[in-house]
Amino acid sequence: MPEEKKPLDFATWLAALKQCRRCRLCETRTQAVAGEYREKPMVFMLGEAPGGREDQEGRPFCGQAGGILDDFLRLAGLKREEVYISNVVKCRPTRPSSRGIYGSYANRKPAPDEIKTCSPWLELELRLLSPKLLVTLGGVPLSYVMGESAAVGRYHGQAFYWRTHNVWVYPLYHPAALIYDASKKAAYEQDVRNLGEFCRELTANPETWQQKLVEERKA
Ligand code: URA
Repeated sequence: MPEEKKPLDFATWLAALKQCRRCRLCETRTQAVAGEYREKPMVFMLGEAPGGREDQEGRPFCGQAGGILDDFLRLAGLKREEVYISNVVKCRPTRPSSRGIYGSYANRKPAPDEIKTCSPWLELELRLLSPKLLVTLGGVPLSYVMGESAAVGRYHGQAFYWRTHNVWVYPLYHPAALIYDASKKAAYEQDVRNLGEFCRELTANPETWQQKLVEERKA
């Protein structure tokens, strides 16, 4: 973990992340995966953890779920180059499998202790990039933000403010949810259109949103 004493920059943070051996995931990973640097991105999209393809290529969301994410970004009127994409856990969580497409492991969800051990990386990443809007993709990042187990089915499409990082949060289903459950497609597409609208409003009228916060604090 980089020293906190001097001001941190993204390149130093990334170089330190690539060397991380804080948990067991370093033993089976090819590499730790983070997003491609953007200066002050408006939108930070946060997934759960890299899968096999991401582990090999070193880029988040470049596999099947990434293809769906690209379609959604288009629907929201956002370009992949203008958003920052990363994950709660930076190394691929695996379980042994004889049917793994990427080596002798299959993907699995990150365990609570892996999320906790990895969290200082995400905390620094959020501070370094200070986005205006954090889009959580699935239950793992939403639960991280809310500090308790949270069901996306209950919160998707409803923006709320996260004081810790001074950022609006917009929960979405994980793109991979659509691979397994096509019935979520209509709800997801509506959420994504609303997300595009929310981004445009946030950019055009930041004071309106600031005012909403002031009112919320008074209430
Ligand atoms: N799923 C995620 O949550 N993150 C990735 O990077 C890829 C798939």
